[in-house]
This record gives sequence, structure tokens and C-alpha cells, in this order.
Amino acid sequence: MSTDRIFINEHPVWARLHQHQRATRHVHMKELFAQDEQRFDRYSLQLDGLLLDYSKNRLTERTLELLVELADAADLRGWMARMRRGERINISEKRAVLHTALRLPATASLVVDGVDVVPQVQQVLQRAYQFVRRVRSGEWLGHTGQRIRQVVNIGIGGSDLGPLMVAEALKPYADPGMRFDYVSNVDGQHLAQVLATCDPAQTLFIVASKSFATPETLLNAQAARRWFLQSATEADIARHFVAVSTNEPAVRAFGIDPANMFGFWDWVGGRYSVWSAIGLPVMLQIGPEHFADFLAGGARMDQHFFETPLLRNIPVLLGLIGIWYNTFYGAHTHAIMPYDHGLRRLPAHIQQMDMESNGKRVGRYGERLDFDTGPVIWGEEGVNSQHAFFQLLHQGTRLVPCDFIVAMNTHYPLGDQHRVLVANCLAQTEALMRGKTEAEVLQELAHLSGDELDILLPQKLFPGNQPSNTIALDKVTPYNLGMLLAMYEHKVFVQGVIWGVNSFDQWGVEYGKQLASRLLDELHGNQAGRHDASTRGLMQHFMATYHAE
Ligand code: F6P
Repeated sequence: MSTDRIFINEHPVWARLHQHQRATRHVHMKELFAQDEQRFDRYSLQLDGLLLDYSKNRLTERTLELLVELADAADLRGWMARMRRGERINISEKRAVLHTALRLPATASLVVDGVDVVPQVQQVLQRAYQFVRRVRSGEWLGHTGQRIRQVVNIGIGGSDLGPLMVAEALKPYADPGMRFDYVSNVDGQHLAQVLATCDPAQTLFIVASKSFATPETLLNAQAARRWFLQSATEADIARHFVAVSTNEPAVRAFGIDPANMFGFWDWVGGRYSVWSAIGLPVMLQIGPEHFADFLAGGARMDQHFFETPLLRNIPVLLGLIGIWYNTFYGAHTHAIMPYDHGLRRLPAHIQQMDMESNGKRVGRYGERLDFDTGPVIWGEEGVNSQHAFFQLLHQGTRLVPCDFIVAMNTHYPLGDQHRVLVANCLAQTEALMRGKTEAEVLQELAHLSGDELDILLPQKLFPGNQPSNTIALDKVTPYNLGMLLAMYEHKVFVQGVIWGVNSFDQWGVEYGKQLASRLLDELHGNQAGRHDASTRGLMQHFMATYHAE
């Protein structure tokens, strides 16, 4: 692999982009639309059932030209090719990054270090499908001979957020005879509330942990096991506990038979793992055929990403546009608003995927970076978000680039409600772009004058020029959702490559974990280490206030 170090902010195109930003930042998008009737056609792309409209952005042909130059300066195409062929681009962990291999068709081949990984992927997938078919058909029964009706996924981070998000989005495809819960928080109320609704004889627990060393997950799994054993025996565990992990010895040590374990590989990052056996609860919910469609949607986006010129490439454009605002406009955040109740967990999933990937202050070779990297990702479902934080988007002082995601068709036709939803989504993107001028407000307030008008007029002005992408799915189907998710994965990769970070490690999460484990020891009353006055005070307060059961 090439180890050429590219300090992207030293490349001349970096300065040219800053210059271009200074020269164009006063141009209002309204003017760009007025100058070009074809702006939507020029700046929108369609791939099967997914349309991206990126015309409501502060950009021109020149901006895109410069951004593509930036991508070339960072050797984006080279990094895309290296990822695709399975080079160890996760340098700090010396691992390949191959979540795309999880969605390759069975007929494909991808040889990494002399081994074709596709048959391995297919072997686990087919085993998982077989298991899923047995559970869904009632062939796999609980220890009293009853069918499995409840599935509880115990996992956290990528072992929770991805499958939970996909499960919520694809509920219309769910087996109505089964219920699915996701337990992630080590706060006992999460598990306790779920268990209170479960019948142990009909419940299947999936312990999902890539490392099988995550304390939150293991504690919840042990608590679930104790709860189960109140009405069953050790021998019954095999029918009610399965594991998804890369760590067979730890799974065995926990007491789960490796025959009930579904594996994956170190080249699948946790936040990219929903396509692997981590998707088991989703497979159980929607069945193998729909899960295969989800994988196919992801594969379609991969093919588009790897094979389409940068200027027609959906994830590349999203990545570049994000960099335009983040790096050259100094925007600190990026909002994601799905106008789809089923997609309401999407912001949380993308938040982990993006912030854990690109929240880095050093480059992939350990070099200090002199510029901001990953933005704060946040968001909430529309239209609820309109009644929560849109005030700031419309009239606040900050630049907040947004993604609006909306489906053209609904699984739940209820009177005119879907049209109302879509109207709201489109109206918001229009209002954010256009704003409202003084002349327009004066017309509205024609009945006012004097002080009253002076006070109200500025408050009713909307500057507009707030950028957004609209991503329209024909419908939230497994295939389209697969495309959407893979699109965001590649967008994050594009940005990581340009900033020069390794998007596939997460050392920052480790430190908090280490401290928590030391502190736990001290909260048990063991010898206290050195702490600042605040932490010491809070620990003492806990020790004095907490009543152990
Ligand atoms: O939050 C850190 C992290 O390592 C994530 O990257 C990962 O998705 C999560 O913890 C859970 O890890 P595991 O699947 O190993 O339990």
C-alpha cells in the first residue's frame, strides 16, 4: 500500500477553495436558481429508487471542479480502489475494511491475503438464514415446546444501532407474530422493562458483540441469563441464547454453544456490521428474502460508488459537499432529518457511523491535523423536528447543512397524510433556501406602521441560503434502505480520505472505558486512586447516597 503522506491543507487546491469560498459566500442560492432554470436537472442524480437533489447548495460548477481537484489531491480514487480490493487501509489496527464484501453476490469473488472471502461470508449468511427459517417456521422451539415469539437483541453501539434502525424502518415487512426488542443500556431499567414483557419459554436472546468483551453487553447478557434460569435449566440455554461475535472463546466461556454462534471478521467495523450476522435480529424479523434485498441494495450502491466518475457519484458528491461547508465555511454540525417515522433512528445510526469514524484529530499516520475534521451529526424525524429546532435553522446565526430524507410512497396510506408529510419536507427545504425578503414581509405587514412595524419586521425576515440535500426514496423498501445506508457509509469514507484520517478505528472510546472500569472498582469501596476534586466529590456523594439492594 502507498504510504505517501498527503497533507491536504498544504495542497494548493486547499487555498484555492478558501479563496473561492470568500469570493462566492455572498451569493444567495436564490440567485443561482434564478440564473439557471435547469439547476435541478443539473444537480440531481438518480440510482434505481433513490434520488439525490443537491441543487439547494451554495455551489456552482467551479465549486464542484475544485472539490473534485481536492478529492484527486487526496488520492480518493486510489483509496477507493484499495478499500475495494481489501488492502489493510485501517492502518492503526492493520486490518482490511471489507463491509462491502458482506453484500457481494454469492457468485462474486474477492481474494484477500490468498483467501476468497466471499464463500466465507456466504457460508455464515446461509447458516444464519437456515436458523432464521427454523425459528420463523416454528421448527426451532423453546425448551417447553412453544414457538419463539419474542427476540431480544443485547448489544451496544454498532451491535445495536444499525440493526435497530433497519428493524424500525422495515417494520412493514415484519412477521406480525413476533416481537423484537433491543437492549443496549447498562442502566438496569432498559433490560428490566423489556424482560417484564417477555415469556422466557418463548424468548430468544441474541447476544451481539463483535469483541464479546463489551461490559455493558456482557452484564445485560448475564442478567438475562439469570432471569431465564429462574424458570429453566442450564441445558435449556441452548434453545434460547445465541451469539453473534468474532470471539469464539469468549462466547464459549459465557456458556453459549459455538454451534449457536454466528461469526464475522475483524475486517467488519462495528458501525458497519449490520450487513453481517449482526443483522440476525433483522433477518428474523423480515426473513431471508427481504434481507437479501437489503444486501442487494447495498451492493448496488457499492457498484455505483466504485465505478462512477466522481462528479456523477452520489456518495462522493455528498462527501465533497459536506467538506465544502465543514472545512471551508466552518460549519460545525450536519443535521439529518428523515421525514419518515420508520427512519427515525437513522440520525442516531449515522451519528455513530460518522462521528466514531471521522471524529479524529490526527491523521492516519499519526500526524497532527491543523484543521477541523468530522462534524457533529444530529437530527430528528420530520415533521416533529419542525416544532422543535427548526426555528434555529431558519433564523438562528449558524450555518447548518441538512439532509432531508423522504419517501415518495408510504406503506401506511391514511387519508391525505402522506401528501401532507411530503409537502412539509419540500416546503422546509424551499424556505431554508429562499428565506423571506423585507419586501415580502412588508407586504404581509401592510396593516402595521410605526413602532409596531419596526419591532416586527426584522423578526419576520428569513435570511435563507441554508443548504440542504434531499434524498428521495421511491419507498422505504429493503433494497432502497440498503442503498441509503451504503450511501452514507461511503460518504463518511470519502470525507475521511480527504481529511486524511483513518475512519475505521476508534481509540477515543477506549480511554473512557478504562477509567470507568477503574472507577467501578473504587465505587465498590476498593482503594481510591487520584482524582480531581469534582470526580472525588461526586464519588463520595454516590457512596454516601446509594443504597445497594
Ligand atoms: O463504542 C465503541 C465500540 O467499540 C463500537 O465501535 C462498537 O460498535 C461498540 O463499541 C460495541 O462493540 P462490540 O460489538 O464489540 O460489543
